[in-house]
Amino acid sequence: MQAIATSSVNAIDVNLPAEEGDPAADARLFRRCLGQYGTGIAIITGESDGRRAAVTVNSFSSVSLDPPLILWSIARTSRSFPIFTGGGRFAVNILSSQQMDVSRHFSSKIEDKFADSAWSPGAYGTPLIDGCLAHLECETHSLVEGGDHVIVIGLVKRASRFEGTPLLFSQGQYSIAESHPETSPTPEASGAMPDTTSEGTIVSQIFEVHNLLSSVFDEHRRAEGVDISVARVLACLYDADGLKADQLAAATYLGQRDTEDAVAELSRRSLLTNTGGSLSLTPAGRQVREAIKRRWQDFQQAQIAGIPEADLKSTIRTLSKLIDQNKTMQ
Ligand SMILES: Cc1cc2nc3c(=O)[nH]c(=O)nc-3n(C[C@H](O)[C@H](O)[C@H](O)COP(=O)(O)O)c2cc1C
Repeated sequence: MQAIATSSVNAIDVNLPAEEGDPAADARLFRRCLGQYGTGIAIITGESDGRRAAVTVNSFSSVSLDPPLILWSIARTSRSFPIFTGGGRFAVNILSSQQMDVSRHFSSKIEDKFADSAWSPGAYGTPLIDGCLAHLECETHSLVEGGDHVIVIGLVKRASRFEGTPLLFSQGQYSIAESHPETSPTPEASGAMPDTTSEGTIVSQIFEVHNLLSSVFDEHRRAEGVDISVARVLACLYDADGLKADQLAAATYLGQRDTEDAVAELSRRSLLTNTGGSLSLTPAGRQVREAIKRRWQDFQQAQIAGIPEADLKSTIRTLSKLIDQNKTMQ
């Protein structure tokens, strides 16, 4: 059967889709569309006949309050598939913003995922991972066929909540939650004047400015024809030529699939070569990376142009202090 090209990518125009096509013919397009829906991250843990299993998922969702039901889906290709579809117990471990490395660890293919992890058995013997925001200990309620996945519906027998903020995943990247600026009371509404000397205000502004600058710089990346995943792969390979796909996924903090998508996109555009698993940028790939770098430098210059030197120095001192004190806490 002849393959038909069904997808198309458009120049930037807010009234047009950035890309569109048939999801059955273009899995990457489909995944990128799904990635527009932000989720949390959970580790599903289980044990059957003395064998433990754990997978990182973002397919977790609530189903029902009465009875308390949740669902998630497992890929048929997962090594843990037989354990989780055997009808036994499992636990949902909802990750906190401090647990990005835990997510990466449990999504990897290492042999014993529990060997270097902090966990303890729950009330039903299922492994519960330390430091999570919530543990939901479940028994399997039902399994539903779902194409290349099986949907596992769990009846929650025990639920525990801990304090903290969630780890999020959207557009193929990990992120942390920040209240939408429009949900915070404005100084006028609260009757307070903006207090730029209060640490609370400075910290909120750092988050706000980070989000704003990231989304504004996104347009510069798109002008070079790359999204953030592709830009990260370009940046990593520019500095460390010859990485393998799994090293690249670790270095870019992208999931395995998003790294593979970015690599496929770059090689489709002849910006990357794969020699026996070692990935390198072509001269054209290096040029795109350099163009983004130049845009970043110009962008930074333009942002601070006109701000007095003394103000910049004092801001840098404050930011360095915040970085130092938090680095030592990690
Ligand atoms: C952010 C993220 C979300 C994922 N979500 C799912 C999911 O919902 N279902 C799934 O089967 N695999 C998902 N995976 C992939 C699995 O974590 C990975 O394939 C699995 O841990 C491999 O496990 P195995 O050792 O059983 O083969 C996800 C990976 C990441 C990084």
